[in-house]
Amino acid sequence: MKKILVIHGPNLDLLGQREPNIYGRVTLQQINNDLRKIAKKRGVVLKIVQSNHEGEIVELIGKGKKQYAGLLINPAAYTHTSVAIRDAIAASGILTVEVHLSNIYSREEFRQKSLISPVAKGTILGFGPKSYILGLQALTDLI
Ligand code: DQA
Repeated sequence: MKKILVIHGPNLDLLGQREPNIYGRVTLQQINNDLRKIAKKRGVVLKIVQSNHEGEIVELIGKGKKQYAGLLINPAAYTHTSVAIRDAIAASGILTVEVHLSNIYSREEFRQKSLISPVAKGTILGFGPKSYILGLQALTDLI
């Protein structure tokens, strides 16, 4: 079975309590449960990691290049700052779908640039937890 690496970036462990007016009340565990259900239906295996550490995310992607057919990533705040994560994705060549709960283009100016989008196959944003579902569906269709 093909494997997909799912990475949730910094502060996404706080979903459900964190700025619910922006990110909603759904917890990361609920999102992960939904992703696992879709993965089961589609016959893929997920490795799901949440990390608040940029270097850890870089290493996961670097080590993952031989193991995973795809990467579903919400880089969270690193979206806007991390050349290192962008370079890791580019170097790995892993088919990548970037997701965001919120529409970053309708928010503060500093969020309106993604360093990750240019190295992703595509980006899904603004649909709350559904962004992850749509992202995983797109990724499993492509791999
Ligand atoms: C986010 C948007 C980012 O700007 C923010 O730093 C996050 C979450 C989203 O999913 O909407 O932590 O990636």
